[in-house]
Amino acid sequence: MNNMNYGRYKALPAVDIPDRNWPSNSISKAPEWCSVDLRDGNQALEVPMTLEQKADFFKFLVDIGFKTIEIGFPAASDTDYNFCRYLIDNALIPDDVAIQVLTQSRSHIIEKTMEALSGCKKAVVHLYNSTSTLQRDVVFGFGCKECIDLAVEGAQMIAEHISRDDSGTEFILEYSPESFSSTEPEFAVEICDAVLDVWKPTPDKKVIINLPETVEYQSPNVYADRVEYFCRNTRYRDSIIVSLHTHNDRGCAVASSELGLMAGADRVEGTLFGNGERTGNVDIITLAINMMMTGVDPKLDLTDMNKIIDFYEECTGMTVEPRHPWAGKLVFTAFSGSHQDAINKGIKKMEELKSAIWAVPYLPIDPADVGRDYEPIIRINAQSGRGGVFYVLDHFFGIQLPKAFQRDFLKYVKHESDSNHMELLPQQVFDLFDDEYINVMEPYWVLSFAETILSEGESEVTAVITDNRVEKTITGKGNGLLAGFVAAFSDYTGVKFSIENYSQHAMKSGSDSAAISYIEIKTDKSDKIYLGAGVSSSVTKSSVRAIVSAFNRMMAEEQAAL
Ligand code: KIV
Ligand code: ZN
Repeated sequence: MNNMNYGRYKALPAVDIPDRNWPSNSISKAPEWCSVDLRDGNQALEVPMTLEQKADFFKFLVDIGFKTIEIGFPAASDTDYNFCRYLIDNALIPDDVAIQVLTQSRSHIIEKTMEALSGCKKAVVHLYNSTSTLQRDVVFGFGCKECIDLAVEGAQMIAEHISRDDSGTEFILEYSPESFSSTEPEFAVEICDAVLDVWKPTPDKKVIINLPETVEYQSPNVYADRVEYFCRNTRYRDSIIVSLHTHNDRGCAVASSELGLMAGADRVEGTLFGNGERTGNVDIITLAINMMMTGVDPKLDLTDMNKIIDFYEECTGMTVEPRHPWAGKLVFTAFSGSHQDAINKGIKKMEELKSAIWAVPYLPIDPADVGRDYEPIIRINAQSGRGGVFYVLDHFFGIQLPKAFQRDFLKYVKHESDSNHMELLPQQVFDLFDDEYINVMEPYWVLSFAETILSEGESEVTAVITDNRVEKTITGKGNGLLAGFVAAFSDYTGVKFSIENYSQHAMKSGSDSAAISYIEIKTDKSDKIYLGAGVSSSVTKSSVRAIVSAFNRMMAEEQAAL
């Protein structure tokens, strides 16, 4: 039975523009960015930022590259007023950065707002009033005419203040029909044009018209239709900067802003990581990296994502979720074996081709481009495949496992991870490999050996070994050191075995052990292959150690099978 109360809701009417253009457009340049972290973001925090935190945040936003920063609602709160004065009085605003302040359309509020801005070099005065049908009916109890009158009066008061100002401030004007996306599209155009009739913008002195999706009631395509409708129908398109301000109630704020840009907007208001009222504002970081990953310069410096996260979390008390786009701690991590394998191959191919264009499966961007490194890309758990284990051992320890070892070792990795319900860190993967295969010293171990060449192709090997920690000397002949040692050891233990595969390589520089050897052996009694590895600063010693390790592992397995 379905108990969902869907019958209580209805979709807002769609906009009728059958010849809409936006679906064929793409985003080819970054919009003008405006951070509203210190206003919309801050007003939504459980514990709003202190003046010092706001000042630090402001500087941080400037360093990232924001040229317009909404710093508050100075007439609505003393903290916002004091912060505005603090920035201006301490000359903390770079010449090329505009601070933006929000105001309602009431004379004492506008007066206080203008007073807060006194002495500022460059400021955006942002006037708003709610225009949606619901707000007009329920909150204000007035019709369209009164709604327009309110906006126009505010616009006139601001224009008068500015005409009286002789302090040299460069004022930029902004109007938001708040709840634009749930306002009748024709009425949104009418009220904005009425404000613009007062402000009289020109192509050289543009006004910002901000089109808020104050609450996200509809899918992003409907918002894009509304933006395109607005751009087509306003009388002032050449003289305005069309700005977007989306919220994330349905989880689509990024998509709404992207489609809004395709529909012709020039500017975006949003916050870092999407902090803001309810589910938040649009996340500017996601939008910007989305642009970067399609080859568009985002005009913001997000190259040190960890620093941005730390700073943001510290100031706001919010956390960036592990799967937050482009930023969460798990977003460059692959757990599944097939993904790990593909990533591994992709990275190798990029290195081989020395390609300038990034193309690695499952990694849409190079983590290094946002200041992350490859380390956490591949993490090992019970779902991991050969590729991931191989990558971790190779990348962190310079161990290039031969195929047979990769297959065999995987079962130990899965068992360890499964039985302890945990992910293995690179060091744990190495320790597991080390314990299982490298220099296995019981019951036999080799202390020293010497090779005497008897003739071409024939050597005699004498070795001192331990058998359950008791020293023994053994000898044997063969066509080289390893064959001679195998003969001596077979003879001593009474178990005939041969080397089926053998390889070795130098280990990562900086490690005290220079070489690792991998040996695969089998007895004359069965086809089963046993594996062992040896590590030593001497290449030959590492091979002999690998033989003894493989032999000891074989003994242990046979014992266990009894
Ligand atoms: O979401 C909104 O509509 C706002 C306005 C004040 C621009 O924050
Ligand atoms: Zn908002």
